Amino acid sequence: MRPTDQSQPTDETVSEHGAAEEESAAQFWERIHRARGGWGTRVNPLLAEVAAPLRPGAALDLGCGPGGDSIWLAQQGWHVTAVDISATAVQRVRARARELGVGELVNAERHDLADSFPAGRFDLVSAQYFQTPFELPRADILRTAARALRPGGLLLVVDHGSTAPWSWNQDPDIHYPTPDETAAELALDPARWSVLRADMPRRRATGPAGETATVVDNVLLVQRAAV
Ligand SMILES: C[S@@+](CC[C@H](N)C(=O)[O-])C[C@H]1O[C@@H](n2cnc3c(N)ncnc32)[C@H](O)[C@@H]1O
Repeated sequence: MRPTDQSQPTDETVSEHGAAEEESAAQFWERIHRARGGWGTRVNPLLAEVAAPLRPGAALDLGCGPGGDSIWLAQQGWHVTAVDISATAVQRVRARARELGVGELVNAERHDLADSFPAGRFDLVSAQYFQTPFELPRADILRTAARALRPGGLLLVVDHGSTAPWSWNQDPDIHYPTPDETAAELALDPARWSVLRADMPRRRATGPAGETATVVDNVLLVQRAAV
């Protein structure tokens, strides 16, 4: 999640918001989004790096949060479907897109992606830090996303690859799936999808109190064959 006023994305920062017992994923994320008014309104640099050279088409933002990525894509001319489990997040993306004059280009929908997936075919699907402390059939969701790509379309998955000092999860045994592991889980037919990028770049990240640390992102970029 990314605070508004910082030049780089922060790592997941839900430390004060550990999931309460009996709380559902929808309740948990709704609580997080209500509590965090202003984060996540800047584009993720890795998405900008991948999308900037592309001709704008139809994009899907999975787990869009407050919509920094969706709105940036719309500002580049993309027609964006922004999806999140939190009704508050979805409403905020919709309202902010309207405020910024790109409301016509952003279709924000509430989905628990474990249960439903938006309709449409896409030139770009982006899953930025689509990580949650709850059970999630992530590989199934990302496989559905890969199938929803138009010929030549791209699926970009950016995950945390290391734990920032301010992260909610300081479990020393945590294992972040590497890009190669995520690709293996997706088990996409190599005749129809190619891995264009699977790497783990480092970046300087800024935490909620302005502290900085070097963190690793796990980046997987897959392309659907042109025919
Ligand atoms: C770690 S945040 C990342 C948000 C945003 N992509 C970013 O980079 O700032 C994960 C997002 O996924 C959403 N989410 C979690 N579980 C979900 C689910 N099952 N279906 C749809 N969205 C979900 C959360 O509400 C949250 O906005």
